[in-house]
Amino acid sequence: MAEMFSTLPSRSPSPGAEAKGTAGATGAAGAAELSIVIPTFKERDNVPVLLQRLDKALAGIDWEAIIVDDDSPDDTATVVKEISRRDPRVRCLRRVNRRGLAGACIEGMLFSAAPFVAVIDADLQHDETVLPRMLGILRSGEKDMVVASRYIDGGNTQSFSKARGAVSRVATILAQRVTGVRLSDPMSGFFMMRRESFDPLADRLSTQGFKILLDIVLTARGRLRIAEEPYSFGARMHGESKLDSQVVLDFLGLLLSKLTGGVVTSRFLSFGFVGMIGLFVHLAVLSMALVVLNLSFPYAQAVATAVAMTGNFLLNNMFTYRDKRLGGWAMLRGLFGFYAISTVGAFANVGLASWLYVNQPVWWLAGAAGALMSVVWNYTMATLFVWRVK
Ligand code: GDD
Ligand code: MN
Repeated sequence: MAEMFSTLPSRSPSPGAEAKGTAGATGAAGAAELSIVIPTFKERDNVPVLLQRLDKALAGIDWEAIIVDDDSPDDTATVVKEISRRDPRVRCLRRVNRRGLAGACIEGMLFSAAPFVAVIDADLQHDETVLPRMLGILRSGEKDMVVASRYIDGGNTQSFSKARGAVSRVATILAQRVTGVRLSDPMSGFFMMRRESFDPLADRLSTQGFKILLDIVLTARGRLRIAEEPYSFGARMHGESKLDSQVVLDFLGLLLSKLTGGVVTSRFLSFGFVGMIGLFVHLAVLSMALVVLNLSFPYAQAVATAVAMTGNFLLNNMFTYRDKRLGGWAMLRGLFGFYAISTVGAFANVGLASWLYVNQPVWWLAGAAGALMSVVWNYTMATLFVWRVK
């Protein structure tokens, strides 16, 4: 077998690595023992430095790097593929028309055939010299996952500004209280696990936001045996953080969903919020159609309804279902589907409200119940049939 590949550079350039490498751990020649998944968005100057540091830190270990880049406008993918041509341990998965740290990590881990996979940030804030210790713990077979933690003895967040440090601590405490996870650093983006433990969870994980570790641990429902390793969270080398308000909202959404036993999700809240905007759009268009265009009430109401429905569709497509965004013909098909669903929802709304009103003539109660029911109906149907979230 070995001769077949003799023209290829060996996976581990450092002498001695071969003997220790894959064969013993996996029994499958060719697959590395450890895959390092590195999610990137605009990290062209950081990745080459990280890869050099990994090469040093992981001497003697049979490793590979999987860089998952979301089509960074700074051409991070081109830079990485240039390195791949010289170093076959380095591979780049370029994802197009998609964004999301969690989704990138998931796809990178699924791309691996190694027995162990790690996730590490590209910006050098995570201390790569901890990786061999993490691997050692997993190799011993007693743990399924090792989380690098800033919040146990020996770890720290010295590089954080006061404000960012405070936010991180609040997020950590919230996550611990609400979800009940027993991790000192549930928001850590630096961990390693057995691939076998990860694979069965993959299709149930959220691809949005930064909460990948928390999501994995919660989805596994206490079945993972977890160790923690301290590290010092460093300063970013080049570029800037991508942690924005969308990431924060996404995190709060997860907490809310956990608090309500999965009933209120961030997607549902976003749908409801768009619905409220739709109501204002409706009233604005209605008054204009009546006053400016002088339309009769039924026509004006019909125009306002059409405009509001279309606006709702576009906003939901842009925000509520941004991970499933429709474009081109699919978008047109989706729009008509959305009209149909909303129309049925409106009839059901009026039906329920009228029936309630007959039995209990409290106008606002009957009205609100009808409206709530149509939101739940529209949301459920749109989720299933327009944006097709499984
Ligand atoms: N592919 C991809 N797609 N990568 C992304 C995306 C994305 O949409 N957003 C961020 N990344 C990559 C960055 O390029 C970087 O390598 C890594 O994910 C972390 O992103 P940063 O923007 O540097 O995040 P941070 O330093 O503010 O947050 C870190 O600390 C948080 C807790 O304080 C991360 O480690 C988080 O995972 C962690 O929750
Ligand atoms: Mn960072």
